[in-house]
Amino acid sequence: MARFAISRRGFCASLAAGAAFGPRPLRAAEMPDLMAGPTSVQIAPEGYGKTNVWSYGGTIPGTPLHARQGERLRRRLVNELPVATSVHWHGIRIDNAMDGVAGLTQDPVAPGETFDYDFVLPDAGTYWYHAHTNSMEQVARGLSGPLIIAEAASDAPDVDRDEVLMLDDWLLNPEDGQIVDNFDNAMTLSHGGRMGNLIGTNARYDYTLPVKTNERLRLRLINAANARIFGLRLEGVTGWTIALDGMPLEEPEPLTGPIILAPAQRIDLIIDVTADEGDTAGILRRDDEDTWRPQAIFPVRGRASKSKRAAPSALPPNLRMDMPNLADARPLDLPMEGGAMGRMRGGRMGGGMMGARDLMQAGQFWSLAGQIGLDETPFARLSRGEPARMKITNDTVFPHAMHLHGMHFRTIATDGTQGPMRDTVLVLPNEKIEIAFTADNPGKWLFHCHVLGHAASGMTTWIDVT
Ligand code: C2O
Ligand code: CU
Repeated sequence: MARFAISRRGFCASLAAGAAFGPRPLRAAEMPDLMAGPTSVQIAPEGYGKTNVWSYGGTIPGTPLHARQGERLRRRLVNELPVATSVHWHGIRIDNAMDGVAGLTQDPVAPGETFDYDFVLPDAGTYWYHAHTNSMEQVARGLSGPLIIAEAASDAPDVDRDEVLMLDDWLLNPEDGQIVDNFDNAMTLSHGGRMGNLIGTNARYDYTLPVKTNERLRLRLINAANARIFGLRLEGVTGWTIALDGMPLEEPEPLTGPIILAPAQRIDLIIDVTADEGDTAGILRRDDEDTWRPQAIFPVRGRASKSKRAAPSALPPNLRMDMPNLADARPLDLPMEGGAMGRMRGGRMGGGMMGARDLMQAGQFWSLAGQIGLDETPFARLSRGEPARMKITNDTVFPHAMHLHGMHFRTIATDGTQGPMRDTVLVLPNEKIEIAFTADNPGKWLFHCHVLGHAASGMTTWIDVT
């Protein structure tokens, strides 16, 4: 009897204490569907017809999922695709069985089958979900969507509007506007990954968001591109960064220089529109020729208030944001090799050694700590609660966006100070960085490059937390 007498307050308190609840039986009505299937949408410019895509819920971006911190998310993946699939909830410090990695945390869901995802959302912030079975193809075909977790109502920042901007990059055939389907092209795998020729925001290449002078917006930027690193600049606004990869910064940081957003990274901004009525504010993107082009256009129509507002205050911190204990941290070493113009001579794959030529023939181009792709043995075994620090050395001539599942980490500066919590870090060519995290989430967690072609051609490993 007593176990049902728990009060609402007690329930929230136990959530706050990080208690794990066993799954309870669900009635069908409590498990809304998340349909993955083919559809067609207008993403190409006028003059082209619709593009055939794969999507969640029939839209691009996929159905936006909204919840509040501490709640449970329940979705029944219904696979109407012609191929097997699974869903990964990127950046959620999730129960391992729900992480959606086909071949590691679950079996792929065959066409016509379903899978019930049911998990607690421990953190507020900007997250996203995407396919994690052959993701280099499935994400490129459109299988991703925003996952927005609200702070408790009293903690939400005071803004006029809250907007999600999902940045994408489509590789379309200029003849017919359809997706180019050479996903495992050796040239792109061994170079910078699959770059598109139609860059957009929320599936619009001319994404437009009317704003007002002195209006305050929260912008949640999500880089859903397969490989593109966005260099962005805002115009006609002043702004602050308030969160990275979902996790609040201790203090809002005024926007000064450009924003770099690697694949899978998110940034939450608060912006005040300073441009006058009739002007245009917006977000510009640096393109390959080093010119700035519009990524999001904010036409200024009207005035929200006469005066500017005071600087925003910080978001409330999420739970478990304490600094990893560096003194006791287990040291790990992760050299990255391979790619075009790289030095990879060979590596371990499928339990044996393989030379560079054989690897190339197998469509594999990259290694992490000498290992190509997933092995039965993890890169590291950590015991629950153990702090770890990992030195990542990029011995390639390409940038990589390294993502850890299940836990956020902090970069460690040379003087030992720790940066903000992130789940994906950009490692530039020939750069060495060090990250630290507390292995507080048990399970099998992938660590891979979020340039999805790199992940598929060697740059994927895993960590076991027991
Ligand atoms: Cu965004 Cu392994 O995932
Ligand atoms: Cu990479």
